[in-house]
Amino acid sequence: MGFVQVSPFIRKFMDIEQMNDTGWAKTYLLTDNNSKSAGLIDPVYDFMEHYLEVLETRGLSLEFVVATHTHADHITACYSLRERSGCEYFMWKDTACLGISKYLDDGEVFRLGSNELTVHHVPGHTNDHILVETSSHLFTGDFLFNGKGGVGRDDLPSGRIQEHWKSLQRLNALDDELVVCSGHEPPGTEMQTLGWNRMNNPVLQLTTFEEFALWQKEVTAGLGSVSKIKTALPANLFAEIPEVIPWME
Ligand SMILES: [Fe+2]
Repeated sequence: MGFVQVSPFIRKFMDIEQMNDTGWAKTYLLTDNNSKSAGLIDPVYDFMEHYLEVLETRGLSLEFVVATHTHADHITACYSLRERSGCEYFMWKDTACLGISKYLDDGEVFRLGSNELTVHHVPGHTNDHILVETSSHLFTGDFLFNGKGGVGRDDLPSGRIQEHWKSLQRLNALDDELVVCSGHEPPGTEMQTLGWNRMNNPVLQLTTFEEFALWQKEVTAGLGSVSKIKTALPANLFAEIPEVIPWME
């Protein structure tokens, strides 16, 4: 009996894992098993110790963290993780946020091990919003949610509804098979492909800006204010953890 040969290409792609057990904000850990390197997309400060524990337990080196946009609803862990681990902190090149170590351009490709990640600038929900595309997944932040959630609101600082509609047209060039990993979903949501969303996400069925404006108006009216914005937004802009974080007391 011989040994079964394991192809070196069998684990070609990254492992993708959603990290937050509670709440609606989603964070994704990308792991390249060949190089034992990792990246985090949209890490949340509240769960930072958990991320660091997982990285240490698995013997992973954190190469980068990405904020898909300037978040208003939570404090990003990006600048704190950069301080703690020395990883790179990536954001869109014209963001107003401080603490970034590398600014990303439209169409730019960065790597995790041998895997390529492509940046797409999609202003709308905020003016600094990006998508990150891998060979199998699309990280969409609040630009696009799965299914009935539609897309993120456009009435927060730097939000522009016309830009959001224009940016949505950029999805036309992307593959049906990509799994949409968004920044917010109800707990327990299973991420679906872009092809599935083309059939099941109401915003992706719309054909005119007027229809989109009406959809946003109706949905936003039901959302109310963002409870953490007055703490989270300045923290993310100035890359400073506040002395008091009311929801973590
Ligand atoms: Fe957002």
